[in-house]
Amino acid sequence: MNQSSIIMKPTILVVDDDAAFRAVTSALLEDEGYGVTCAADGNEAIALLRERHFDLVLSDLVMTEVSGLQVLETAKTLSPRTIVIMVTGFASVESAVEAIKRGAEDYLTKPCGNAELLLKVERALVQRQKDEELARLRDVVTQSHSFGNLIGKSPRMQQVFRLAQQVAGTDATVLLLGETGTGKELLARAIHFNSPRRHGPFVAVNCAAIAETLLESELFGHERGAFTGAIRQKPGRFEMAEKGTLFLDEIGDIPMATQIKLLRVLQEREFERVGGNETIRCDIRLISATNHNLEQAIQEKKFREDLYYRLNVVPIRLPALRERPEDIPLLARHFLQKYVQALNKPVAKISEAALNLLLQHKWPGNVRELENLIERAIVLCTGEVIDVEHLLMLQDRPEADLLSQARSRHLTERQLTQLYARIILDVAAGNKKEACRILDINFRTLQNRLEGLAADATNES
Ligand SMILES: Nc1ncnc2c1ncn2[C@@H]1O[C@H](COP(=O)(O)OP(=O)(O)OP(=O)(O)O)[C@@H](O)[C@H]1O
Ligand SMILES: [Mg+2]
Repeated sequence: MNQSSIIMKPTILVVDDDAAFRAVTSALLEDEGYGVTCAADGNEAIALLRERHFDLVLSDLVMTEVSGLQVLETAKTLSPRTIVIMVTGFASVESAVEAIKRGAEDYLTKPCGNAELLLKVERALVQRQKDEELARLRDVVTQSHSFGNLIGKSPRMQQVFRLAQQVAGTDATVLLLGETGTGKELLARAIHFNSPRRHGPFVAVNCAAIAETLLESELFGHERGAFTGAIRQKPGRFEMAEKGTLFLDEIGDIPMATQIKLLRVLQEREFERVGGNETIRCDIRLISATNHNLEQAIQEKKFREDLYYRLNVVPIRLPALRERPEDIPLLARHFLQKYVQALNKPVAKISEAALNLLLQHKWPGNVRELENLIERAIVLCTGEVIDVEHLLMLQDRPEADLLSQARSRHLTERQLTQLYARIILDVAAGNKKEACRILDINFRTLQNRLEGLAADATNES
């Protein structure tokens, strides 16, 4: 699919039996940077359409032998995404309407002004690009439970993907909100790589990681001698992101002085390097992210309200993992695959009990925490199945301690069964009935096992 016809110099076929019209129109379009081919009649046009793809066909409606309507039909049959604009010399609106009915995008009546012709051509091409962009993004989302490298099948995440897909096609400023580890950076990248700017650079700046005194020069660049240590001129991240996307991460940590400068760039789309007086214009798409509550920061006078409104054009809130437990198994399996490959281990699956344990956890670190947990479980796993013990080892839970102790002391099967009952009771959040269901034992047996475990523990101490 040709997704970037606008960027790549669109091709136009001009069809008219009037040589003067062909000459004038092709010169006009070539001056605008289009690649133009001419055909003197309908037959020639159809032959050319069979040979190659044109982004747009500008065809006379009334021609001898083969009419404009036939050219239209051939163009649409061979390549449905080719735009057709009909030109009619007789101002016969009726036949133009007929052409539109049969799939032409627009029509022009002769004599038409240059400006009008160019406007219609450009508008049709831009519209086509937008439509295709949207259709492509829709495919990306509907085909799978993913967007870029993000996965999620929960309605909350699907909603995030839909919104992200919509803004990706535009240049709108996006603010990504969400707790740590919810995928903000991943989403910023996904938006960029699904946007018309995807061939341009994606430049990420972690505002919290750069010393306050250096942030301005990092963002806007500096001139030689602007400050001690500025031995040569250096372009900033805004310049590096030209024609691409700038991702300002941890935007809540930007000092007030820098906030004013940032506001100006967003308003005027121009700035000066530190120590410089040349004004530089920039063409970037801005995505910022924070896990702070910016509204509260505004109240505390730590964040400028005007800047907030500039950044918050399209807010996208990434839900915490605990708000979408249905994504946990999907993500766990995703990371299992990822790390099994990376670590080259024969771990094939996650046991039901382990999965239940994952569902039970509160996930303060969200997806990042889950990812780390799975990675470490694979490292620890000696068999083919990740089980509760591989996860418990990673958590500060008394059972984990007990289990690792037990390992060195060789537990009997009876003790293990008791311990397992205890763990499952935890998994079931203390609900004994549920624990019985998971273990497939009756209430009395569960009780015995728990009591046995307690007795053993007392005997130990
Ligand atoms: N929906 C998801 N699908 C797959 N991986 C994800 C998803 N969300 C997050 N991750 C993974 O979790 C980790 C954290 O994601 P990311 O760095 O994007 O989070 P963040 O919101 O920017 O966190 P922080 O606020 O701490 O910077 C990354 O390794 C990322 O690959
Ligand atoms: Mg981040």
